[in-house]
Amino acid sequence: MARLERTDEERDLLARAARVMPGGYLGNMRVAGGDPLIVRGGAGSRIWDLSGNEYIDYALGSGPMILGHAHPKVVAAAEEALRKGSTFFVENAYAVELAERIVEAVPCAEQVRFTTSGTDATFQCLRLARVFRRREKILKFEGGFHGTHDYAAMSTRPSGTTPFPAPEPSSAGIPAAVGDTVLIAPYNDIETTAAIIEQHHDELAAVIVEPVQRTIAPRDGFLAGLRDLTERFGIPLIFDEVVTGFRLAYGGAQEAYGVTPDLAAIGKIVGGGFPLAAVVGRAELLEPYDAEAVGPERFVPQSGTLNGNPVAAAAGLATLAELREPGAYAALHATGAHLRSTLQRLFDEAEVPAVVSGIDIIFDVYFTGRPVVDYRSTLGDRTLKGVFDRALLEHGVLKTPEKFYVGMCHDEADVEQTIAAFEAAVAAVRDGYVAPSKNSSSSA
Ligand SMILES: Cc1ncc(COP(=O)(O)O)c(C=O)c1O
Repeated sequence: MARLERTDEERDLLARAARVMPGGYLGNMRVAGGDPLIVRGGAGSRIWDLSGNEYIDYALGSGPMILGHAHPKVVAAAEEALRKGSTFFVENAYAVELAERIVEAVPCAEQVRFTTSGTDATFQCLRLARVFRRREKILKFEGGFHGTHDYAAMSTRPSGTTPFPAPEPSSAGIPAAVGDTVLIAPYNDIETTAAIIEQHHDELAAVIVEPVQRTIAPRDGFLAGLRDLTERFGIPLIFDEVVTGFRLAYGGAQEAYGVTPDLAAIGKIVGGGFPLAAVVGRAELLEPYDAEAVGPERFVPQSGTLNGNPVAAAAGLATLAELREPGAYAALHATGAHLRSTLQRLFDEAEVPAVVSGIDIIFDVYFTGRPVVDYRSTLGDRTLKGVFDRALLEHGVLKTPEKFYVGMCHDEADVEQTIAAFEAAVAAVRDGYVAPSKNSSSSA
């Protein structure tokens, strides 16, 4: 069967999904070209759809599966925990041990409070910062993604024309009042951000940033500049490390860039592929979670049925143990660097204006001739992006619509096959790319 053809079995299941699920999908991602795909399973770097197509997986569950799918040690750890019971609500040894590992690893983490999703973790970070600072407004960056709660969903995919620092809701259903509490700044532009903070510092409860925003790397000094500014005005700095935590380095982006925030949200890798995330930070900021330590007006009740779930914590512990193996991160970064630089070279050779943006282990392509430094500079040609992602899929490479996640599971054979797919996808883009005519500006 030709790649991407669907068997009756998969087609039937997709039709059933369309009847009972809005849009016929989970809401997470539509694979390139918009065709839904139903996964049969995965092992290591590979996944298979129900029709039997095999893909090298660079979605990796949207990031958690850095070790690959069904890693034997993670499966064994989860199975062992599961045999003792799935969830209890009361404390469990796996969660305590995972909190200890996090505190050892993450520079800002003196204490840990578990949540079940990254969305909940960033929401909680903002609430804690408001209690600490006794102010209400938050500053986030245009295009930054912190999940789907009302504050996070401001200016995640805006028009790119609203003047800073006004926000634009990126979801229907957000109360207008939320917009009055959110300021938006341009990522990587420390001068404009400083001007906004200087003007609004007395209203600000927090500044929240993805250290690597989507697939845009921080400019030298940008994160340190944010740290200086927030420190100067006593504003808590929150790193959203849901993606970068335990990925850029064992201690996350804060270790990799040498900038320590006051609070951080972590998720994805730390739960080993199960629903687990966490709020971590200075004990002083997490104190409002302790009813006995603070008065009722500073208490922040926070609980969740599955928070600190033992099976998730056991899988997280097994994952972190693998990440501590000597050389694990060096190998990961080397694989990513090879893939990313090869893809950029192929576009350059094809004379297609494209930027393979991000860092070596999290990147994507923007079809633009300009450097990609902030949200507005990512607004390139979406048609070519569709062509590229679709061609990759046809050549057995799956990614999310917005990034490649490189994992420790990607080996030399994967890289070789991926580069062959890159060559085919770059050729498909080159065929669809119409270079602007040399005379077009003079004849216009
Ligand atoms: C940077 C960032 N923050 C927060 C979230 C939300 O995490 P979750 O999907 O676990 O709610 C995501 C999800 O991809 C993310 O990429």
